[in-house]
Amino acid sequence: MSWITMDISVESIGDIKGTLVLPFNKGDVGIDSAALSGLGDGLVGQLSKLFADKDLTGKAGERLTLHSPDGKAMLWGMGKSGERNVDSCRSSGAKFFAGLKKRHGKSLTVRPIGWSGEELAAFAEGMILRDYKYDYYKSKNDDDEDDDDSPVHVTIQCDSEHVDALSASATRSGQIAEGVFRARDLANAPPNDLYPMAYADLAVEWANDKDNVKVTIIDYDEAIKLGMGGLVGVGMGSSRKPCMVIFEMNADIEGEAPVIVGKGITFDTGGISIKPSASMDEMKFDMHGSATVFGLIQALEATGHTGRVTGISCMAENMPDAAAQRPGDVITTLSGKTVEILNTDAEGRLVLSDGLWMAADYNPSYIIDLATLTGAIVIALGHEATGMWSNDDDLGKALVAAGDVCGELVWPMPLTPAFEKEMKDSKIADLRNLGTTRWGGSNTAAAYLKNFVQSRGEGDDEKQIPWAHLDIAGTAWGAKSNVLVADGGTGIHVRTLHHMITEGL
Ligand code: BES
Ligand code: MN
Ligand code: ZN
Repeated sequence: MSWITMDISVESIGDIKGTLVLPFNKGDVGIDSAALSGLGDGLVGQLSKLFADKDLTGKAGERLTLHSPDGKAMLWGMGKSGERNVDSCRSSGAKFFAGLKKRHGKSLTVRPIGWSGEELAAFAEGMILRDYKYDYYKSKNDDDEDDDDSPVHVTIQCDSEHVDALSASATRSGQIAEGVFRARDLANAPPNDLYPMAYADLAVEWANDKDNVKVTIIDYDEAIKLGMGGLVGVGMGSSRKPCMVIFEMNADIEGEAPVIVGKGITFDTGGISIKPSASMDEMKFDMHGSATVFGLIQALEATGHTGRVTGISCMAENMPDAAAQRPGDVITTLSGKTVEILNTDAEGRLVLSDGLWMAADYNPSYIIDLATLTGAIVIALGHEATGMWSNDDDLGKALVAAGDVCGELVWPMPLTPAFEKEMKDSKIADLRNLGTTRWGGSNTAAAYLKNFVQSRGEGDDEKQIPWAHLDIAGTAWGAKSNVLVADGGTGIHVRTLHHMITEGL
């Protein structure tokens, strides 16, 4: 795959290939002798002197590269030894990859001695996830040495008991990363090239040679026929018409199974309620929910998932136009429920109205939607966590737990009757698409969405399908503190959902 610039191999301590990388901790008085095996006397001498003179602090991120006629060694500070855990090792792997310079060469041997199997796996995962750049639109200059994208070979030499498990987990991390990178590619793609039907074409093309994934497109004409008033209302002002893209994986497996729904606004100008121009370019990321859906399906396929999973992407471009919907319009959604449009910039919830309603047709064990839905969630949680609302405690807890395991924080937010009532306060329709005040804007958006989750069962047994809404507006891009990605789309929650689904939830 074109973005990969590194390959990883795993073995027990053996020959040093290229630069030897030696992680060490604060307070260490030297390097474990096992980790120095095969290193030339000159470098071993320099190392002893450095430690004897206490010239290194060992603080996280500290690096020193030693050069000698018989090789190079990089000392790499990891902070206090007691602070090492799965999250810190994942970040270390990412920072390690990000910090590689030409002088470190194209071959490196890393010796993390004494780390647990999970820590080693997370370290490799961090390296793999950071090994991504979006440069399809940059002209290549073959004479420019900095353009050299021949692969870097990283050999991890660890305690022999971990070798087999680590090479298996690194392979799996690579497969999952295919999905993460797909999501980032889609998110980063410029909106003139990635419009609703372009996403659909990519999905069809990708699924073409996959026996167990079927992709169905509901195009604009069909969406009108079916009565998808939310999707149509948002997308009709664009010359690039809206569509719904449905991924069915292992469709012939019986029983309830997860359905994942994504907001896919390929560009959000706000429509007639137009946004200010500052940073409007960022609204190309407004399809990251649908990017995660595609990436998740790709990751599940790459790891050979045998269960049934459905993905539904609600694709539209929100443009101001003579044919665009207006504030004041009333639309009829697929559910039959009517919605008064009070702000055309609250469009994500409109396309999701139809996607969530549609989700019930796929015998869901649960429905999860992902959406860059509100600026208010960025105010509330910054870029550090995704907001999560759920009508089902078990589902909510499972998502929080999966997010914790993957280092993609999911934070519970309130889904309360007052917010639901607020969104029903329309004089002429069943619902309104805007809160009555600006307060709690992410909560009112979530409360609105709940109206489109269908119920099952009769009488006293009637119950809404378990559902969770993830507002990823803050975590989908632009997180300086997310070291797993340099910039742009993050691919958020491909790993969380992959973990949750493959763990059997
Ligand atoms: N796509 C935006 C939300 C958004 C804002 C994502 C900033 C990322 C960064 C969404 O469609 C939107 O415009 N929401 C409005 C809702 C409001 C009109 C109720 C918002 O958050 O201002
Ligand atoms: Mn908007
Ligand atoms: Zn939007």
